[in-house]
Amino acid sequence: MTILVTGAAGFIGSNFVLDWFVQSKEDIVSLDLLTYAGNLENLSSLNANPHHHFIKGNIGDRELVSQLLQKHQVRAVVNFAAESHVDRSIHGPGDFIETNIVGTYHLLESVRSYWSDIDEQHKKDFRFLHVSTDEVYGSLNKTDPAFSETNPYEPNSPYSASKAASDHLVRAWHHTYGLPVLTTNCSNNYGPYHFPEKLIPLCILNALNGKPLPIYGDGQQVRDWLYVKDHCSAIRRVLDKGQLGETYNVGGWNEKANLEVVKILCSILDELKPKSDGTKYESQITYVKDRPGHDRRYAIDATKLEKELGWKPEETFETGIRKTIEWYLANETWVNHVVSGDYKNWVQKQYA
Ligand code: NAD
Ligand code: DAU
Repeated sequence: MTILVTGAAGFIGSNFVLDWFVQSKEDIVSLDLLTYAGNLENLSSLNANPHHHFIKGNIGDRELVSQLLQKHQVRAVVNFAAESHVDRSIHGPGDFIETNIVGTYHLLESVRSYWSDIDEQHKKDFRFLHVSTDEVYGSLNKTDPAFSETNPYEPNSPYSASKAASDHLVRAWHHTYGLPVLTTNCSNNYGPYHFPEKLIPLCILNALNGKPLPIYGDGQQVRDWLYVKDHCSAIRRVLDKGQLGETYNVGGWNEKANLEVVKILCSILDELKPKSDGTKYESQITYVKDRPGHDRRYAIDATKLEKELGWKPEETFETGIRKTIEWYLANETWVNHVVSGDYKNWVQKQYA
């Protein structure tokens, strides 16, 4: 049997696929459109692995997806494929509607058609796991309790609205057609292979290159950080043990203001790679115009996942951020390839 992983060449998808082969011998078919965010280099260590099959393609291509499901007798689909960057969704929401909503719809239909035709045992065991975000719940005030699974959906950006729509489609395909679905809503991830348009990898690389570390607004917006490998272990746990039709919040109880995050990573860089001129990386912090509609605070209550499925994160922010910085320092080739591509052009446009 085989798992189909969509968006497998992206940040979390590639970490999930790499971790999967440490935990399991089951085959993976990786499907990815290789947009600006998809990077096959993330999966290059699997080039000689006969259990891994990479296919370039769109989750919205029903013919391709149906063919892959049948050919590989897929027993589960894990859907990471999405446009994922909030800032890009503000400047151009079209791709977000196309992939996150319309693409998920087509994927659900391809999967439903395959699932309807398989034998009863296989049908019972089949799973469609949809990977989503805490941003669907909207924004919290300082004293609000963390998001639980019963919070209403109040998305504020084109990105989070498109993810909320996809979550609703997944839910509807379960209630209407009985498709065996699971949904996870996770907080901010960080770790290896993170594309440097997002706060943490952007600031690590800008710091090392002597560039400004852009802080939107006052830098007091709070995110709840989870090391990517902990997100991957949560998804495996939900895939194995989750109750069909349920949603599970995933988070690491690591709320931090953006300014604090950037100051922590600067101090670790000061220790691991001190600047030759003796100044501190923190001196590169630069306050820039705020993100329109910027959500003030996210925080995840992961009690359901911990109590019902026995999952716990392994990393604290302090251990995870150190591992992440060490990874970026040790993987110069990956960094150089990413920085010399589309990322560079886009960031130049944004911060010109
Ligand atoms: P990413 O942007 O790094 O990767 C997305 C991948 O999807 C890329 O490889 C891209 O090529 C691929 N893709 C895009 N459109 C596609 C399409 N139409 N067909 C097939 N592949 C396509 O994103 P990420 O940070 O790895 O996020 C993965 C998923 O997890 C997303 O659904 C995102 O909403 C969700 N999520 C992310 C975070 C986070 O902090 N990064 C947190 C919670 C949830
Ligand atoms: O909460 C989960 C979400 O986390 C995921 O669903 C998204 O896919 C993922 O991109 C992430 O969204 P954020 O918008 O929170 O991540 P980002 O790294 O873009 O920004 C983190 C915070 O840092 C946010 O408050 C905006 C701020 N920021 C970001 C950038 C890129 C800055 O202050 N400066 C920056 O240059």
